[in-house]
Amino acid sequence: MYRWLDERLDLRGLYHKVLRKAFPVHHSFFLGEITLFAFVVLVLTGVFLTLNYEPSIREVRLADGRTVPAAYASVLYIDSLPFGAVIRSLHHWSAHVMIAAAFLHMLRILLSGAYKKPRELNYLVGLGLLGLTVVTAFTGYALPYDNYAVTATRIGYGIAHSIPWIGGALADLMFAGEFPGSEKSIPRLFSLHVLWLPLGLMALIGLHLAIMIKQKHTQPRYAERVAPGKILGVPMYPQQMVMMLILFALYVGILTIIAGAFLAHPVEAFGPPTPQTPQVKPDWYFLWLYGLLQIIPSSWEFRLFGATIGPEFIGGVVVPGILGLVAVLLPFVDTRKDKMRYMELPSEHPVRTSAVLALLVFFLMASLAGYKIDFQQQGSILGENAVLWTLVLGGPLLTFLVSYVLMRVFYGKAREGEAL
Ligand code: HEM
Repeated sequence: MYRWLDERLDLRGLYHKVLRKAFPVHHSFFLGEITLFAFVVLVLTGVFLTLNYEPSIREVRLADGRTVPAAYASVLYIDSLPFGAVIRSLHHWSAHVMIAAAFLHMLRILLSGAYKKPRELNYLVGLGLLGLTVVTAFTGYALPYDNYAVTATRIGYGIAHSIPWIGGALADLMFAGEFPGSEKSIPRLFSLHVLWLPLGLMALIGLHLAIMIKQKHTQPRYAERVAPGKILGVPMYPQQMVMMLILFALYVGILTIIAGAFLAHPVEAFGPPTPQTPQVKPDWYFLWLYGLLQIIPSSWEFRLFGATIGPEFIGGVVVPGILGLVAVLLPFVDTRKDKMRYMELPSEHPVRTSAVLALLVFFLMASLAGYKIDFQQQGSILGENAVLWTLVLGGPLLTFLVSYVLMRVFYGKAREGEAL
């Protein structure tokens, strides 16, 4: 059978090309893998949830006499199944891990210069993956249809709707009508969450890994000293595969313990949707956006060619849009001659490293704005939220300057050949 397949598919060639690929040994390379493991766990737990979830807001009566949306009731049903609550919790925490790991993986790519030629294309595919991951998490928010889910999703609907000229059509495409209100919204978000977006993620992950195998990894710097010009690493099969299996087992084990100990999103604590908007904050990865929306004054509104440009659009679309555009353009702007094959050191690139640190401080400060809205400085010269504005704009600027000066002082001019 093996020979029959080998004669037709050149399995031996495939084995040498893919499975003998050298995988560099460096701890930071596990971040991409952890992102992958989180996605696998999301798909597996998601299948179980989909089999028991009802994507509908029709009213149903619970055993205790309350009338609630069917989607809400089906989540209570999932929680009542053996291990149901733990599997739902595992799905929830794995989504957090996937977003965090993908973000950290991106930071590694930025700090080591792995986005440069010839890896621009894979970097763009990676950006697409991060965007798709966040959108997939957002579409999952609404599904339990509790008071929290509806409030959080309504903010997203408002942002989509605020886009001038095309906002209405875009919101309609994603939410199938007004949210909350339209009966078609939950079925639409459900099909996006369990089918179209995961399919998109699978296709992009496949492309990402195929390009990575074709182009080969960047090499850790020690490889340059140990064996200059050679590819150093352990073969994908069996060594790297065994390591990955062990890491995957560890991931599932640790996350299951966490999922069991901290049951995620208890829908009964929020209750079914009510006309009153509860005081809830979004999850950490949306908190910076929420913070921006909180501090942009409502007076920032003007008309342009018949459309309204308002605070929701500025905070929810323009600012993330600018960050996204800078990220997309980066490999085409930063074309300095590089090592291509080896990871660059953060200490060799003070401007880039300081900019990444400043970006992190921006996210932190904007997230703080989402939490500490009571910092408001009513009546000060800088207007409301003056302290928060100073932190959100001044914090990153100060971080950039201090980090740049410190790196110049401690590392001098960019040096080559440092050990990691
Ligand atoms: C969200 C899902 C993602 C998954 C599952 C994923 C997976 C992986 C894996 C397993 C690797 C090989 C191991 C490693 O280098 O860490 C890798 C490499 C790479 N990834 Fe990702 N990644 C994702 C997102 C991203 C993002 C957000 C970016 C950047 C914007 C990115 C850019 C790259 C690049 C440029 C490489 C090659 C790195 C090198 O040669 O050193 N990826 N990815």
